[in-house]
Amino acid sequence: MVWDYYNGKILFVTGGTGFIGTGILYRLLTQSTPEHIYVLCRGGYSKAESKWKSMLPASIAETLTRSNCVTVLDGELGDTATMSLEDETLQMLKRRVHVFIHAACSIELKKSLRELSYTVIAPTLCLANYALKFPNLEKFVFISSAYVNAHLWKTSESSDVAVEERVYSLDRKGEDPYESAPEIWREVQKNGTSHEFETHDFPWPYAYAKHLAERLVLQKASEKDALDKILIIRPSVIGPAEEIPYHGFTSYSTPSTACAAAYALHPGRKIILATRCDQPDQNATIDEVGVDLVVDRTLLHIACGTSGCVHAVSGEKRRLRLEDWWNAFKNERRLPWNVKPIWTNEDWHSSNLHQMARNFKIIGTSFAFAEDKTDQVVKSLSSEELEHLKLFTDRSQPYHHSLIHRRHHIHHLAKEMIKKNKLPVPVFMTGLFCRKGKPPHHYRTQSQKLAV
Ligand SMILES: NC(=O)c1ccc[n+]([C@@H]2O[C@H](COP(=O)([O-])OP(=O)(O)OC[C@H]3O[C@@H](n4cnc5c(N)ncnc54)[C@H](OP(=O)(O)O)[C@@H]3O)[C@@H](O)[C@H]2O)c1
Repeated sequence: MVWDYYNGKILFVTGGTGFIGTGILYRLLTQSTPEHIYVLCRGGYSKAESKWKSMLPASIAETLTRSNCVTVLDGELGDTATMSLEDETLQMLKRRVHVFIHAACSIELKKSLRELSYTVIAPTLCLANYALKFPNLEKFVFISSAYVNAHLWKTSESSDVAVEERVYSLDRKGEDPYESAPEIWREVQKNGTSHEFETHDFPWPYAYAKHLAERLVLQKASEKDALDKILIIRPSVIGPAEEIPYHGFTSYSTPSTACAAAYALHPGRKIILATRCDQPDQNATIDEVGVDLVVDRTLLHIACGTSGCVHAVSGEKRRLRLEDWWNAFKNERRLPWNVKPIWTNEDWHSSNLHQMARNFKIIGTSFAFAEDKTDQVVKSLSSEELEHLKLFTDRSQPYHHSLIHRRHHIHHLAKEMIKKNKLPVPVFMTGLFCRKGKPPHHYRTQSQKLAV
């Protein structure tokens, strides 16, 4: 049984106050009885408590804040494995931990590769190296991204790019994709870039940083003959939960929500987007996936002993057509005219594109992410077990229903965009562009408490 695997286990989670990390903790604490879960958080328990209370209704937040088996460690990622923790704590984790889940990361699509080498690559490599020394380690899990392979869009002849659950070599000769990683990493540390990054067109340095981080982790594990201890989870575009902890559980780390806000604010009737699909409205796709699916696929594959790369995606059968994704934004916009996408075949970095496309460059692309490893594991589960796991996206409801639950977040992000982009609109008038939406109940009780 999947959940039995976690009984008596000791876990260490980075990013446990984030969108995915919070979901992982909730699921573990409600479905199984781990011996202990250590959570890394910048600011320690008080920060973690206030984040969980702001993200979750009180009764659900209490599952995390009142659990005797959760200890929050005040620390942060860096370019060593110490995480600003005491040596004694590091030794204790080393002795005790069975499962190490590395989900902490700032999603900074615009940061340079040099900056990301400090915030993404170095911490991931250091933590993998540290975890692989644990005598009881069963799995080191790195939460990566399905878009580590988005450069394939530029090299594939097809306008629907099939992506397998493996590491693609960036070497022309197709040599072992992780043998070369340490040398490339030295190049990045020295020059802030690498020849392979310069010769492959990634949508963002972030995608390449995760690509290289994956290879470094796998190379380190291969050196130690421990490839079976590595699990790399690659989520696509994360959206609100479909079911767990509750329908609509969301955060601000949801790119489609930001696109809905940008759409609502756009004063014109056209938005320029790039594609090489013949009929982009029908053929371009967006692979959005509920956070609960990412959580359950992660925990399922750990329990079943899967190693290597696993996609946490909606996949070919359940991804969204661009047209359906775009049309859903119309309902959230209050300006009385719609915005049409105008397609060009310009490059995805072109400055002629609308800012939404310049930020979220995969609009206008289509990726068919394989899900073979999940399909395989599912075959070994009983129907009763399957019924209680959230492993596949449900598309029985039209997509615009999903945006209704995000109204408060769309409105909030629109306000932030007005401030950040210095738009000539007073922030208090954001309601003219998009519906305000009721804040989730726990947000309201929190602000009432503050008012008292
Ligand atoms: N959201 C998406 O659409 C998406 C899609 C694909 C992949 N992913 C990947 O999924 C992982 C988790 O994403 P998420 O959506 O859960 O992100 P999130 O909600 O922004 O959470 C990020 C977490 O990382 C922690 N963190 C960031 N920098 C840190 C540092 N220097 N030291 C310690 N902790 C740090 C944050 O802690 P604080 O509470 O201290 O800020 C927070 O707990 C990331 O690796 C991301 O790349 C996300």
